[in-house]
Amino acid sequence: MRVDIITIFPEYFGPLDLSLIGRARAAGLLDIAVHDLRTWTHDVHRTVDDTPYGGGPGMVMRPEPWGEALDALVPAPAVAAGGSDPDLAGAGEAASAGAGNAEPAGAGGAEPAGADGAGAAPARLVVPTPAGERFTQAMANRLAGERHLVFACGRYEGIDQRVLDHAATRMPVSEVSLGDYVLFGGEVAVLVMLEAITRLLPGVLGNAESLADESHAHGLLEAPGYTKPARWRGLDVPDVLRSGDHARIARWRRDQALLRTARRRPDLLARAVAELDDRDLAVLAGAGFRIEQPDMAK
Ligand code: ADE
Repeated sequence: MRVDIITIFPEYFGPLDLSLIGRARAAGLLDIAVHDLRTWTHDVHRTVDDTPYGGGPGMVMRPEPWGEALDALVPAPAVAAGGSDPDLAGAGEAASAGAGNAEPAGAGGAEPAGADGAGAAPARLVVPTPAGERFTQAMANRLAGERHLVFACGRYEGIDQRVLDHAATRMPVSEVSLGDYVLFGGEVAVLVMLEAITRLLPGVLGNAESLADESHAHGLLEAPGYTKPARWRGLDVPDVLRSGDHARIARWRRDQALLRTARRRPDLLARAVAELDDRDLAVLAGAGFRIEQPDMAK
């Protein structure tokens, strides 16, 4: 996967040299380039922001450097097409907010800056913003299937909307929020998204099995984990985990996942309810959780 990150704070991305992402980059599984937005300014102050039209507090990022940056990193396709992508949201999630609605084209670009070859899938522009569609594991899965991601890190009161509207005429654009809170800018959000996305890429995680049962993989939170010693500060590892009985262990883990999800994230359990069997429902009922299953006849 190729990743370009545009920011006014390239230093934020030092951690991308570390740990598993650093290893994946060194192994050639991941090609990440960080670009200073001010490269595409032309005044002595290297200005990237200005006061908002219509008044109000703060500053908005000017469109010109962003336009030039995107032109350089994602060359205009021979056949223009794009739009904010209806595919990213996926079933059961809100549609992506954005300007255009055209189908993304399969055409790549005209080849500057070592970028996209003709015939390749178009790059996707991802813009972190508290006004975006919510980032989820399902979205991470879909983004992990992209060939080329371009992240645009806004600061201040965000990026002039025309940058996104124009980009959407030639590539899919996703405005994405980590959650219902406001960060200083998109940089930390990009680090979070990249970690969630890149660990799904083939070869990045040492043990791919650990992807199978982790929290959110099946719509439930993961069961608690234990390691040696068997007794620590008077606390014992649950006997079942030391029994060697794999069927019982799997059932115990599922029960724990169900109960944790019911207590901590009833919203997730409500969404997973159609996947629950009678035994699951009995476990939940035994702990006092009454779950209504949807009426399939309707
Ligand atoms: N930028 C500022 N706040 C953000 C949030 N909650 N999610 C993504 N990007 C942001």
